[in-house]
Amino acid sequence: MTLRRLVFLGAPGAGKGTQAERACRDHGLVHLSTGDLLRGAVKAQTPSGVAAKAYMEAGDLVPDDVVFGVLFERLDEGVDAFVLDGFPRNLAQAEGLDERLAAAHKPLDGVIELDVPASAIVGRITGRRVCKACGTTYHVAFRPTSQEGVCDNCGGETYQRSDDTEAVIERRLAVYREQTEPLKEYYERKGLLVAVNGDRSMDDVEAAVDAVVAGNGERIDG
Ligand code: AP5
Repeated sequence: MTLRRLVFLGAPGAGKGTQAERACRDHGLVHLSTGDLLRGAVKAQTPSGVAAKAYMEAGDLVPDDVVFGVLFERLDEGVDAFVLDGFPRNLAQAEGLDERLAAAHKPLDGVIELDVPASAIVGRITGRRVCKACGTTYHVAFRPTSQEGVCDNCGGETYQRSDDTEAVIERRLAVYREQTEPLKEYYERKGLLVAVNGDRSMDDVEAAVDAVVAGNGERIDG
């Protein structure tokens, strides 16, 4: 049975966005990235965006009420088959999500943890480039554009995220270890966690994730 309501958990740069995009395309799910929603709010200078900007630039978590606001507004549009990418990020967010989904009688079906060693993370993040127009993600070495700085998908200009610098990455990784990593145990206890080895090619990770979403995955994938 295909899983319909999923969380993708993992360190910054682990490949959550890359794999969420592929899983949603293949299984008809909606990709909900709180990072993307917040960046959109910052760009549009909405009250949520104004509140979030400094936290994001510093690599800190945006306050829970702001994050709940942007995410639940999107879920309220009638989305009930989704991959959550970058949410929840702390215990309060995980509990808030559980409450909301329980009230709708549509609990989470699974949590996929993309497991990537710290040694691979910094290179992935500093090499990331994103299209300003369509949001497609590239990597200067692992997924380069055909023409430097130009999106293969739409011809838009690619850029480097302002929080993808080594100084901010250190902070993001520390925040992940302190606040988000404990969620592995939270979801393990609920019997929802499946660990996937994310330290291999994007296609190999995709195949492992696909097996889990399709309901055929092993509990722990080597
Ligand atoms: P967010 O945008 O969620 O950033 P993140 O969690 O740090 O995750 P990333 O987007 O950096 O990485 P990813 O795992 O999606 O990796 P990707 O697929 O792009 O959050 C940004 C900020 O917003 C936070 O710091 C916080 O301030 C705020 N925020 C967001 N959500 C929040 C929340 N819930 N609560 C509070 N604050 C929140 O891949 C990375 C690179 O690696 C790419 O270049 C890709 O091409 C490459 N790559 C991917 N897979 C592979 C592979 N298998 N092999 C080689 N390269 C690969």
